[in-house]
Amino acid sequence: MTAFEDLLRAWDGEQAVIRYDEPTGAWMFVCVHSTVRGPAGGGTRMRVYPAAADGLADAMRLSAGMTLKLAVADAPFGGGKAVLAVPSLPVGAERRRLLLRYGELVESLGGTFRTAADMNTSAADMDVVAERCAYVYGRSEAQGGGGDSGRGTARGVFHGIRACLRHLEGTAELAGRAVLVQGLGSVGARLASQLAEGGANLFVSDVDGERAAEVAQELGARVIPPEQVIGTDAEVFAPCAVGGVLAAESVPRLRCRIVAGAANNQLATPEDAERLHAAGILYAPDYVINAGGVLQLLGIEDLGWDEETLERHLEGIGTTLLEIFALADLEGVSSERAAEQVARSRLTPPA
Ligand code: NAI
Repeated sequence: MTAFEDLLRAWDGEQAVIRYDEPTGAWMFVCVHSTVRGPAGGGTRMRVYPAAADGLADAMRLSAGMTLKLAVADAPFGGGKAVLAVPSLPVGAERRRLLLRYGELVESLGGTFRTAADMNTSAADMDVVAERCAYVYGRSEAQGGGGDSGRGTARGVFHGIRACLRHLEGTAELAGRAVLVQGLGSVGARLASQLAEGGANLFVSDVDGERAAEVAQELGARVIPPEQVIGTDAEVFAPCAVGGVLAAESVPRLRCRIVAGAANNQLATPEDAERLHAAGILYAPDYVINAGGVLQLLGIEDLGWDEETLERHLEGIGTTLLEIFALADLEGVSSERAAEQVARSRLTPPA
């Protein structure tokens, strides 16, 4: 128990709600890090942790990240995160009952915390949570939800890449620019298609070779084997697969001028932002450029935005990146540091 106490004392967030779910042995942690800009938004992650306190620590850390992400995106939301720390991933009726009880917990917070799917939870799970709770986004389309957030994420990354080109080249024109997309899932495939439409010289890669071949054929792109991605010459590298791709070992081998993609936690360590900066590679901080999905879910489902309003906010991701790059240049710091400064400057209630 001391571990919980230590974590709570050290945390700078507003409130952590903790419930032990006796029937499943799961711990529910809802961390509301900040409501300065509005209700706290954040996903619900389900995971097996070595100890319950590790789940609480994860929820606390991730909720602080959401505060920065939503502030820098200029969204009228604060940051939160929920973790269901389970002894093993539940299925069937047991999973359903756990999610219903979790829905009751979130409902009891009266809208202070608003959630969507995250690691190991799906739109179908959100449909179940929504049976007991009004503050759930990203339900399945069949249940009136906004569907796959990969759409908004991809569009935001598209605008982000154009902003990076504008910063370096003075023009956002994609025609003829070599762009390498790593990971052709929900986000990467959509992004690749928009880049192809813009006339980019497209390279694609996926550990699923068939998937890569299929996308390449459809878009007229060239397939790069997964192990060759890092050393491949391309003006823009867009990581849209896994985290940790930017590391002490990989940064010196990068042959790009810009890293701008959707993957979460692209930097293996904070020092890797400095490594990119020193190498003269323009890095679009992941939590800034990949905010389109959360804007789509909260904007359309909670704020009632239409498609045009959503697109304006997704374009805003590009504008924010330009602001971050200008600040980084002015102060001679990495884009990651400048992004944090911009996020903190937006941590005031929206006008
Ligand atoms: P996804 O699971 O639909 O697609 C991932 C793709 O990457 C799959 O096709 C997989 O085969 C491929 N892949 C996995 N490891 C790879 C590797 N080492 N090299 C090449 N390809 C590899 O995931 P999704 O939704 O497209 O997300 C992509 C990334 O963007 C993830 O890191 C995710 O956390 C992040 N992200 C996604 C958001 C969304 O709205 N879907 C929002 C914000 C971030």
